[in-house]
Order: sequence, then structure tokens, then C-alpha cells
Amino acid sequence: MKLAILSRAPRSYSTQRLRTAALDRGHEVKVLNTLRFGIDLSGDEPDLQFRGKRLSHYDAILPRIGNSITYFGTAVVRQFEQMDVYTPNTSWGITNSRDKLRATQILSRHHIGMPATTFVRDRADVIAAIERVGGAPVVIKLLEGTQGIGVILAPTLKVAEAIIETLQSTRQNVLIQRFVSESKGRDIRALVVGDRVVAAMRRVAQGDEFRSNVHRGGIVEGVTLDEDYERAAVRAAQIMGLRVAGVDMLEGNEGPLVMEVNSSPGLEGIERATDLDIAGSIIDHIDNQVAFPEIDVRQRLTVSTGYGVAEIAVQAASDLVGKTLGESGLRERDISALTLQRGTSVIPNPHSRHVLEAGDRLLCFGKLEEMRSMIPGRRRRTRRVKKLPAEPIHEA
Ligand SMILES: Nc1ncnc2c1ncn2[C@@H]1O[C@H](COP(=O)(O)OP(=O)(O)O)[C@@H](O)[C@H]1O
Ligand SMILES: [Mg+2]
Repeated sequence: MKLAILSRAPRSYSTQRLRTAALDRGHEVKVLNTLRFGIDLSGDEPDLQFRGKRLSHYDAILPRIGNSITYFGTAVVRQFEQMDVYTPNTSWGITNSRDKLRATQILSRHHIGMPATTFVRDRADVIAAIERVGGAPVVIKLLEGTQGIGVILAPTLKVAEAIIETLQSTRQNVLIQRFVSESKGRDIRALVVGDRVVAAMRRVAQGDEFRSNVHRGGIVEGVTLDEDYERAAVRAAQIMGLRVAGVDMLEGNEGPLVMEVNSSPGLEGIERATDLDIAGSIIDHIDNQVAFPEIDVRQRLTVSTGYGVAEIAVQAASDLVGKTLGESGLRERDISALTLQRGTSVIPNPHSRHVLEAGDRLLCFGKLEEMRSMIPGRRRRTRRVKKLPAEPIHEA
């Protein structure tokens, strides 16, 4: 295949290793400076210029987009997507993973363990927010920090309030997060390629530092992960739309707590710690997937008038419970079930023999009018009802 590595650091360890791994495998590979692209929307079809000339054909790209150029870099990746060039990391995935709040919001509905996190704007809401995540000491994070910069441990409520106020006065948005003290200055970095963890390391903060980032002096060692850690890492990367990702997890009392998903994970520390050829596995994955460029499925599936995608939840009272998918009558109503979600597991292309259970969720494509009647009323948030006092309250 012909591969372009999009990077502004051609001489960095990671870029060099990826380039060499591609060459060793007989691929044609170029390292192209992301900032030298021109997005060309003037012709009939989406196109790209590089250093002022029309870019030649590539089969795949591997974006290594730095934090300082997210906007332009993801625009270039998006243009490659429009041109049906394969990328393991989508522009959508890169954008969403870059912002810690956005990433947490997306992950939060998928039952992925994460440190309790909250986001508020008004100073009047700060104290309540800190208390919601367990009180001081509390972690305060800039939304777009990296390398541990912008992650602060506030020992008391007062200090936390002062830090948040200071940061907000300089127009910085901050997250408030439970301090996972049981992790004891350690965290896990899992490198996900495709559907598996290809390498993992533990980083241990030094001295009285609580941040384990290598840039903050953290020391690394290779580890073999328990299955629950592997599963959390792979699912987090999948949900974020990243096929090459560094997933950072804290070791909580109840298992893995995902902190962030990095779309351009550095390879040096983890290759040295584990002695594994991670660059090679990334190149092999791209080679294996190059026939499947990104398709914006929802957009493509909704261009037929009257058709669309919807999720049908099988409720306990529904007469679908106990029936097979074949008996459900969906097919007859021109509705195809694309996936069946049961708890946290997803059955792709569910067979007509599958028996439906209460709580199942069917992702369907079909006539919207037909599906409307099958979608139960809007999901209400379950309200926690306060216990009534034993004695009725009388107004004075
Ligand atoms: N909620 C937390 N509890 C305990 N330690 C944390 C918490 N959040 C972050 N850390 C520590 O700080 C480091 C940096 O945090 P992270 O969110 O990954 O930011 P960055 O993008 O700067 O790496 C983590 O690797 C971890 O060691
Ligand atoms: Mg990190």
C-alpha cells in the first residue's frame, strides 16, 4: 500500500519507527507535514494540495496530529475521509478525544468506568460540584491539557475554589474530578490497535508528585493487563472511533477508571518498556483494513427520503419479549436490525433465530413511519424520590 504519515515531527522516535516498519514490510511511505496541505473544494470532487501541488493518490493515512494544530489537522483528515482514503483514526475521533470533557461525555453512556467528573461554569456552583465528586482533595483539569500540564490536585475546598476562579478568570474551562487516591500516583497506559491491546505499561509518579506522566518524571514498566482492563481500553477506543489509541486508566478499587484516550500515542516509552514492535502492529493493522475507508453511516443511511436509523428498546411489557427476531415482524415492516445490544455486549447482524429479551436494544434501519410506533415514549430520567418524613410538614 501507499501510506502517508501526517506528522510535523519527521525525526521523532514514533514517526521514524512507523516509517521504518512500513518500509520493512514493503510499503511505500511518505511523512507529510500536516500544515503543508491545502484543502481544495473548488473542483467537482474533494481534493487535496500538498506544498501547492495536487496530492498524488494514497491508500491510507496515519494521522499524528499534535494538540496545537487540532483544528487544521482534523480538517485535513476529514478531507482524506471525503476522498475515501483509509484512516485508522477518524477526524471525529481525534476531535472528540482531544477535549477531556467531550470525551467523558461520549464515554459516559457506555458503562465505561471513569473517575467521577463534573463541569460547571458559575462560581456559585463550584462547591456543590466538588462535593458531588467526593470533596477535597480534588483534581482540577484544563479541558485540553497534555503531558500532565493543567492537571492540579487541590488539597482543600478553599484552594480548589481559588484555583477554579483563577483559571476561569483567564477564560479557561476546567473539569472537576474525584481524586482517585487508591491509584497512588500510578496509572496504566494501554496501547490499542484495532480490537486489541498490543502493549501496556504502568507509569509510577516519583516523589510527592501525583501525576504519573513521563514528562512529569513518571517511571514506566511493562505490564500484562487483566481482562477487565483490556476490555475497558478496547471499548473506550472503539467508542471514540480510534483504531490506534493510548488509553490511560487509573487503578480504582472497583477496577479500571478511564481518564483519557489519546489519538497520537507516543511509542518510545512503551516500546522500550515492553520490547514490543508496536509500530509494526500499527502498520499491519492499517494494511489489513485499508479496503474499509471511513463511511459516515448515519449520513449515508438517511439520504433515502423517509428512511433512517433508530434504536428500538425492547421493554419488559412489550410483546416482542420471548419472540425471535424472525417472529418480531420487523422484516415485514421493512425494518432491518443492524445490531442487538444486550447489556454491554453487542451482537452484530443478529440472526433471525435470536430470542429477544426485555432490555435489549435493537439498532434498526428502516422506514421512519414504521419505526415510530415501535419506539416507546421518551426515556425519562429516573428520579430519586426523597423519603417522606414520618410526620407531615405543616407550614408555620
Ligand atoms: N482523578 C485523578 N485521580 C488521581 N490521579 C489522577 C487523576 N487524574 C489524573 N491523574 C494523574 O495525572 C496524570 C495526568 O492526567 P491526564 O488526565 O491523563 O492529563 P494529561 O492529558 O495531561 O496526561 C495521570 O496520568 C494520573 O497520573
Ligand atoms: Mg494522560
